[in-house]
Amino acid sequence: MSYENSVSEHYTHGGLLGAIRDSIVKLGKTIDTITIDDLAPVDEFHIGGRRATDHLLDQVNFSADDHVLDVGCGLGGAARYISSKFNNQVTGIDITQEYIDVGIALCAWVELDKRVSLQHGSALSMPFEDETFDGAVMLHVGMNIDDKPGLFTEVFRVLRPGAYFCVYDIMQLSNEDLIYPVPWATQMSTSILATPHHYLQALKTAGFSSSKENIRRDFALEFFRNMHSRMQTAGGPPPLGLHTLMGESSALKVNNMIHNIEAGRIAPVEIIARKE
Ligand SMILES: C[S@@+](CC[C@H](N)C(=O)[O-])C[C@H]1O[C@@H](n2cnc3c(N)ncnc32)[C@H](O)[C@@H]1O
Repeated sequence: MSYENSVSEHYTHGGLLGAIRDSIVKLGKTIDTITIDDLAPVDEFHIGGRRATDHLLDQVNFSADDHVLDVGCGLGGAARYISSKFNNQVTGIDITQEYIDVGIALCAWVELDKRVSLQHGSALSMPFEDETFDGAVMLHVGMNIDDKPGLFTEVFRVLRPGAYFCVYDIMQLSNEDLIYPVPWATQMSTSILATPHHYLQALKTAGFSSSKENIRRDFALEFFRNMHSRMQTAGGPPPLGLHTLMGESSALKVNNMIHNIEAGRIAPVEIIARKE
């Protein structure tokens, strides 16, 4: 099996659309009444969810005229949110076919299918012309991609001059081995973390100028503490959440990730890059 197929197999659920439909019934909603806010706990698959997306977006100024690319869009939650926030066109690309299929259905449910287009494909070789996009985001994707200079060179190619590229990835902060499984990988073979310094170097090699990294460790730990206390109060997870995506292994993967963050091995990190 190719490396990218192994990554995509890791994320494939097999019956995700049905699982989300079942969960929205428990929320007391239907596909006609569901909103992007209701979907955020399941379709924003990165630490801090919607709050983290907002924090990233607040650092750039997308407008209604900007066509934005979401690299490794997953179910397209961030893509739909960007489009609803800025009233603009957003395109997402992801190698997990099931995420794209489910994401397209979710776009239709919330009536964003005219403005948000999701496509199956690799971020390392995107089916887009040079200088197509006015901005790009990438949330929690680089952990599965070894060739970061190649990835950033490809993103640079499809961006217009002046475009911002907002990165929010889990990065490596020490040389200690991680505890697996984690949400992005069952084992080490598909987890290719890099330090913020490595990201900054790879972005520079691709031609970007970048802000200093912003390590979001404290935000992440606070987010998980709040999530834990909400679950304690409610006596379990909410109908829609990351457990809907990851199934039975969800608690183990999330707990391992928290341990890895607490131990100082990893943290989510923001970098805002620009194609001058
Ligand atoms: C943790 S999920 C994050 C999804 C989404 N960005 C979000 O925040 O909700 C990682 C995503 O990266 C995608 N991915 C990993 N390697 C990729 C590649 N080479 N090209 C495109 N997508 C990739 C996976 O399929 C998965 O959907």
